[in-house]
Amino acid sequence: MNEEQRIQQAGINQVDNNIERIKNTKSDDMIAKYFQTSYEAQSPDIKKARKRLNEDVQIHYDFAIPEDMATIGKGKKFLIRTYGCQMNEHDTEVMAGILTEMGYEATSDTNDADIILLNTCAIRENAENKVFGEIGHLKPLKIEKPDLIIGVCGCMSQEESVVDRILKKHQHIDLIFGTHNIHRLPQLVKEALFGKEMIVEVWSKEGDVIENLPKVRKGKIKAWVNIMYGCDKFCTYCIVPMTRGKERSRLPQDIIQEVRHLVAQGYQEVTLLGQNVNAYGKDFEDIEYGLGDLMNDIHKIDIPRVRFTTSHPRDFDDRLIEVLAKGGNLLDHIHLPVQSGSSEILKKMNRKYTREDYLELVRKIRKAIPNATLTTDIIVGFPNETEEQFEETMTLMEEVGFEAAYTYIYSPREGTPAARKKDDVPESVKKQRLYRLNELVNKQSAASMKTYKGKTVKVLVEGESKKDPDILAGYTEKNKLVNFKGPRSSIGKIVEVEITEAKTWSLDGVMVENTVEVN
Ligand code: SAH
Ligand code: SF4
Ligand code: F3S
Repeated sequence: MNEEQRIQQAGINQVDNNIERIKNTKSDDMIAKYFQTSYEAQSPDIKKARKRLNEDVQIHYDFAIPEDMATIGKGKKFLIRTYGCQMNEHDTEVMAGILTEMGYEATSDTNDADIILLNTCAIRENAENKVFGEIGHLKPLKIEKPDLIIGVCGCMSQEESVVDRILKKHQHIDLIFGTHNIHRLPQLVKEALFGKEMIVEVWSKEGDVIENLPKVRKGKIKAWVNIMYGCDKFCTYCIVPMTRGKERSRLPQDIIQEVRHLVAQGYQEVTLLGQNVNAYGKDFEDIEYGLGDLMNDIHKIDIPRVRFTTSHPRDFDDRLIEVLAKGGNLLDHIHLPVQSGSSEILKKMNRKYTREDYLELVRKIRKAIPNATLTTDIIVGFPNETEEQFEETMTLMEEVGFEAAYTYIYSPREGTPAARKKDDVPESVKKQRLYRLNELVNKQSAASMKTYKGKTVKVLVEGESKKDPDILAGYTEKNKLVNFKGPRSSIGKIVEVEITEAKTWSLDGVMVENTVEVN
């Protein structure tokens, strides 16, 4: 069997198995039964969410809006505020899709909305504070418009303490639902519309894969595509394994079909999404098929740009490096969160690699893809981080030559092992470390930007720049923001831009004449 047949066969086997499983577990009226499934725990249970009991992952292809909900939103409007990562943003696109199919229209005006959803993030305390601020702001509106439905969803809903606090202090919220309950939105909206009590439905389960959910994507140029859900890495500081369930991969053919569909709609770039995309396929029982194989198949599809995020160094294998080295539509920008440059801290973080392992991986990537651009995530002030350990992060930053980094002060998250540790590092020291690190990050970013001056780069044009409608903006293959002068007809296309000015985080330029590609 050649590779293509192998994937196809494996995919078919998986689908067959899943259909068999669904048949075995469901009555004739599959849709009705599935969507009425009642779980014992409708409120979150963080201890249960930590457990991995090897629950069977079911793949559902039977999503449908119940008939009595299909027009319930007619003449009404919805607004969703998104607070989290790309996965969270993509969930917003799914919820927008569901609400649109229910007849609702999108609005960006809070006063105009009949339903407001806050799609929340639990990764750090300040993300949560923002949401509680917004919940407070919405209270007068709810008093003024009692029919308004306000819902809280996303990762914060998966936390017991958050749900308790909303139940006790924010009775103007109508609905709380979790990350595993998105497909239940029609039923939940109905309950919220007709019920008197606050509706809480949060399943602390390992999770399923729900395939045919509708989506209203944010733009027509770049698209997110989920390739897997959840995380099993349990980094000791991180809440995600509790809020998103276990690692579970979508079947290759479902992903490939979605990418093909996006190509047909004219999309120019896809970003494959997962909390740890390098673990893609590890949960397949019948096939050996990982991220490298998936990228290899997507490489053959006629879409100009393919990105993926987020990578975990631990599962970044040689097969993926070999495939990425083929280039073409597989872009040579790799976001590879390191978190710390100290092997001792990495051990305490349960990252399962050392500084040396990380450097070795970088060497391998650079050998195979000499022009690769690396960016990263770093946490400073992990409990009891010493000055020397922090210095190791600074030296790693330089040694790898990261061109950009998202940097954070450690934020204790309830229910995670690190949050139980006594911490002797004062907040002021952590802030100082973040400041020093950011200075270095800025310096390295500015230096990498300078190398572009006078060069011509390929830019996927997204639209007007934020500051000036006469200037267009887009991103290079290496994800550098470029503001430039050019015709509006280039929006949605890949054009060549000559760089005239380099700033710390962006480039300025002028479009090279006649480079609008005809698509
Ligand atoms: N799955 C990805 C990213 C997860 S969240 C990965 O493993 O790389 C994005 C970033 O938030 C993380 O990379 C980490 O740097 C940061 N982060 C996660 N938990 C945090 C916490 N408790 N405090 C501060 N930063 C945190
Ligand atoms: Fe969190 Fe670690 Fe999973 Fe990333 S890999 S989501 S940091 S537990
Ligand atoms: Fe935040 Fe949840 Fe994403 S905690 S970072 S929205 S997975």
